[in-house]
Amino acid sequence: MKIMFYCFSGTGNTRRVCEKLAQELENRGHEAEIYLVTKRSAPPAPCGYDRVIAAYPVHAFNAPAAMLKFLKKLPRIRGGKSEVPVYLLRTSGEPLRLNDASGISPRRILRRRGYAVKGEIHFVMPYNIIFRHSEGMAARMDRTVDLGLSSAADAVISGGGQICRVGPVRRLVSFVLRIEHPAMPLIGRTFHVSSACMGCGLCERRCPQGNIRIVNGKPKFGGSCVGCMGCAFLCPADAIRTSLLNGWRVNGEYDFSAPPASDNEVCRYCHKSYVRYFHAKEEHENAGAQTAEER
Ligand SMILES: Cc1cc2nc3c(=O)[nH]c(=O)nc-3n(C[C@H](O)[C@H](O)[C@H](O)COP(=O)(O)O)c2cc1C
Repeated sequence: MKIMFYCFSGTGNTRRVCEKLAQELENRGHEAEIYLVTKRSAPPAPCGYDRVIAAYPVHAFNAPAAMLKFLKKLPRIRGGKSEVPVYLLRTSGEPLRLNDASGISPRRILRRRGYAVKGEIHFVMPYNIIFRHSEGMAARMDRTVDLGLSSAADAVISGGGQICRVGPVRRLVSFVLRIEHPAMPLIGRTFHVSSACMGCGLCERRCPQGNIRIVNGKPKFGGSCVGCMGCAFLCPADAIRTSLLNGWRVNGEYDFSAPPASDNEVCRYCHKSYVRYFHAKEEHENAGAQTAEER
């Protein structure tokens, strides 16, 4: 089976999860390809693949504008429905069910273009905005992804899966916060650098929107920012100031190799939700391992 991942990732979390799932699928004898979504990219046509996975980080309880634009460029299936089952794979900083609302727009776009979304896969990964998770939390999230890979791969291979039901209140919150889409290009224009900037050009190279140009040794920010935070997060000198969002700036890649946080070490913010999320995946995995042993 050939599986195509269309992956939008600002700071690497979603890409990391895609790479792990692709590896899991390859270990089971399938072919997996990861296509990184950028502003200029036209999607490789999904025909020729047996499964498509559209992967994105949750932004303000929505899919990022860049991912929606990309999906709108998929070839429309004329006179019928595509046979290729599509999966949504998302990562978010917190395990709140509000994040499920981020599947509404991608599903609608895909349906209009003739593609059927068969299931949604959700993993929690460390925050790249608002606050920095501890290295222990990042490691536990990463381990939890590992635990969930098997059932995610099972769903994709079998062509089954689940679509998240989203009630009217969550729909409304997500709809209101979609203001982020028109707002980010304006806010992004006002990003600037401090005197710590070394002009290394990493931000220019890593911006998936091609929104940053180095002029006279310093980055200039254009008008197509989608707020992925890749520039500020990855800057080796922590020199990027994100204007209105600067108080929420998080800088520096997570080192996922720390000892995973115990339940007591799980952060206070949304403590119960994180613990519930970790336990649910751990119990699911233990049950799966037991069944396999019994067989
Ligand atoms: C602008 C912005 C908005 C975000 N909004 C949410 C949110 O509504 N809910 C959430 O759980 N995480 C939110 N996050 C956190 C990211 O979804 C999370 O860290 C994700 O794993 C980042 O993936 P990436 O590294 O592939 O970009 C947001 C991040 C950014 C940059």
